[in-house]
Amino acid sequence: MDKLQITGGRPLEGEVRISGAKNATLPILAAALLAEGPVAIGNVPHLQDVTTMIELLARMGVTVTVDERMCIEVDASTLKECVAPYELVKTMRASILVLGPLVARFGQADVSLPGGCAIGARPVNIHVAGLKAMGADIHIENGYVRARSGRLKGARLVLDTVTVTGTENLLMAAVLADGETVIENAAREPEVVDLANFLIAMGAKIQGAGTDRIVVQGVEKLSGTRYDVLPDRIEAGTYLVAGAITSGHVRLKSVRPEHLDAVTAKLIECGATVATGSNWIELDMRGRRPRSVDLRTAPYPAFPTDMQAQFAALDTVASGVGTIVETIFENRFMHMLEMRRMGAEIRLEGNTAIIQGVERLTAAPVMATDLRASASLVLAALVAEGRTDIERIYHIDRGYEAIEEKLAQLGAQIRRVPN
Ligand code: EPU
Repeated sequence: MDKLQITGGRPLEGEVRISGAKNATLPILAAALLAEGPVAIGNVPHLQDVTTMIELLARMGVTVTVDERMCIEVDASTLKECVAPYELVKTMRASILVLGPLVARFGQADVSLPGGCAIGARPVNIHVAGLKAMGADIHIENGYVRARSGRLKGARLVLDTVTVTGTENLLMAAVLADGETVIENAAREPEVVDLANFLIAMGAKIQGAGTDRIVVQGVEKLSGTRYDVLPDRIEAGTYLVAGAITSGHVRLKSVRPEHLDAVTAKLIECGATVATGSNWIELDMRGRRPRSVDLRTAPYPAFPTDMQAQFAALDTVASGVGTIVETIFENRFMHMLEMRRMGAEIRLEGNTAIIQGVERLTAAPVMATDLRASASLVLAALVAEGRTDIERIYHIDRGYEAIEEKLAQLGAQIRRVPN
């Protein structure tokens, strides 16, 4: 297994291109199951999770071709079986995203039930309840969600909790259902909107994506299309924090600044100068130490849980005390324990972390535990004195395209070495 070696201390400086969003690519690939003709998807990031989703589609008999520019063509007309096996689902929970499309288009799905994961229990009860309300017959059997159905029927769905993939699964099911579906308390994340735009490009009738009330008029069938995935706001936010934590100066291209409002507001609060254009963001923190910020995670458009760990890293070296409250996942503080080993002063009280900024962190061998936790350890290592070795970086490769190349391009001392 590879590890990352990072020697901290250099302010980052330069420009980096942001890749397509992982959390939009995954539902869009699943949604390709709904089309009668081939779909072509561009701006797809080169990531382990994307490879897993492609493998999952291929196992079902779907024809998937990838060109050298990561443009993916998916043709579901060759589908042979509606099964998502445990061996793939256990490596990527987002595999559950095939459930809605399979039931809606083929009337059956056997999808392994994802178990708990490093950051929380993450049940899928809302996905299942919504499909049942649309007429699917669903049982949990031998660890699988087994769903059978005729054509789904439109329904009024009031989601118990705001759920991103839950909203996406039900949206994908609703587009082929008979009649109108209303999803109340829907997730408003930009990735939900991107999925809706992709479905609309295939012929779906959807209104209200991006609000908490999505209304879908079911259609008989969807056709093939070509679509480019939106830029990854979490990758972008991570590079902005990399600029801020190293007192550097970074410019990101191929971004959608309006998707990062909650993040840039916090960066400005911590003392950074932030400038934006239609598709770029620039952050300048040269000559300054960041100030601590308080934050509380919540569904979009509030501060994203996927940026919590990165801001925790920032707070560890900022001046003052920062309080971080995680409200989405019950166990998303594993990085705090690793950062303590680098000299961070962090007190944990339930879902709250109180971080007293220190003048400097020192390098230590640390272990990545999940995707965003790993990103936060990379950020801490960029400012720590000495060389930090980060192990289990397969977590990073699930969600950050070529992270060592992009950081090296900004002047970081980073290399990937086989363990
Ligand atoms: N929840 C339920 N029942 C359900 C579904 C969700 O109780 O049926 C709860 C969850 O346990 C959690 C909350 O609802 O407490 C919100 O979870 P959500 O369903 O929104 O999370 P998700 O859809 O499984 C997506 C992203 C995550 C991101 C969260 C929150 C994808 C593929 N994953 O997960 O991304 O953290 O939304 O924004 O879109 C990551 O990229 O590192 C990542 C974990």
